Formats: sequence, structure tokens, C-alpha cells
Amino acid sequence: MSRGRLITLEGGEGAGKTTAIDAVVRCLEGHGRSVHRTREPGGTPAAEKIRGLLLDPATGALDPLTELLLMFAARRENVVGSIEPALAAGQDVVCDRFTEASHAYQGGGRGLGPAPVEALGGLVHPDLEPDLVLVLDVPVEVGLARIRKRGDAPDRFEGDRVDFLERVRRTYLERAAARPDRFVVIDASQAPDAVRGAVVRAVEKALLPGAEGAP
Ligand code: TYD
Repeated sequence: MSRGRLITLEGGEGAGKTTAIDAVVRCLEGHGRSVHRTREPGGTPAAEKIRGLLLDPATGALDPLTELLLMFAARRENVVGSIEPALAAGQDVVCDRFTEASHAYQGGGRGLGPAPVEALGGLVHPDLEPDLVLVLDVPVEVGLARIRKRGDAPDRFEGDRVDFLERVRRTYLERAAARPDRFVVIDASQAPDAVRGAVVRAVEKALLPGAEGAP
């Protein structure tokens, strides 16, 4: 049985990742693939507990390296407990955020830079890299306006300052520009249908050769 592929979805706050993930899963399943869907931080019972700590505004400010270590502690649980077994069983894995989020939020946003993220990535998932990274890109103010409209209480990251979120966005775009073979940037300020269409085209082009334009 051939190993599955890892597809990760990235983007800033209010980028509309959920809509995009639904489209990726439907596209792959429509082409007969078996799909395992997961998210980070989270994806296993222990990693979901770490997520709770990381996202709860009551946690308060964390030292940036502590925050990064917690992200990677959760990631290790998800890689070992859910992502690797699914890939080995031939399933495609669609993950809502992965190590690129650590580059963007902790490396760029919190100012740690790429070195600690690369070091921890080498330790936590030495042989695992996404086959495709989709970056849902929206201007920070557009994303924040969407969150305000949803009316949910902001989590610990959504409450962050605009300049932090601008650094997150810039880091995603810089890293995507440096790796055009693996990253596709999707303009997520478009209407949901247009975003879904762009997502499906990107998945078909990268992972389902011969399927492009098929119904
Ligand atoms: P997510 O569930 O995608 O939240 P949202 O749907 O609000 O975008 O991600 C949770 C938060 O965790 C998000 O604000 C980004 C942050 N995060 C990091 O800072 N570093 C990471 O490595 C990961 C995976 C997430």
C-alpha cells in the first residue's frame, strides 16, 4: 500500500480555513482517497488538553519559547498518535495548521525567528514534511472583521495586536515565496465559492495529476 500524503492548511485569524478544509477533504474523497482530518494544536486527547491551555485567554502571556515548546509537545502527540499511523495506512492527512504556523506565529509574530522552529521540527518530526501547504491569505483587518462578525469571544491569539498579526501574515508569505514547489497561496478575501474553487484546483494540480478540471 502506498503512503498517504500530508496536506496542511495555514493562514491568519479569520482566513476561513474551515471552508477550505471542507473543500480539500471533499475533493480528495471525490477522487477515491481515504482522508484523515486533524488539527493543531490538538488532534489527540492529550494534545487537545495542551490546546486548551494555549488558547485560553486566562492562561495570560507566555514566554515565547514556552509557547513554542507547548505547540511542539502537542505536535509530537499528534504526529505519533494520529498523523503517522494514518499516512502509513495509506490515508491522506488533512491538517488544520502544522509547523508553518509555528514559523508564522512564534517565529515571526513572537520574534523567535526560524532557528528554534527548525530545531524542534527536526526533533519532533524528522522525516515528515507536508506534501502541500495551502496558505489562506487575507489582510489582517479583513480577518479580524470576520471574527468580530462571528461574535465569538476571541482566543488568546485572536486578541493579539494588529502588528503581531501583520508579522504572522508576512512570515507566511515570505516562506511561501521561498518554496513555490510546496506552497500555494490562496486569496482568501474572495467569496467562499471562489476560495473553494482555488483550493480544489491547487490540490488537483499538486496531488492528483490528470484530475484537473474533472468534475
Ligand atoms: P486555529 O484552531 O486554526 O484557530 P483559528 O481557527 O482561530 O485560526 O489555531 C489556533 C491558534 O493557535 C491560532 O491562533 C494559531 C495558533 N498557533 C500557533 O501560534 N502556533 C502553532 O504552531 C499552531 C499550530 C497554532
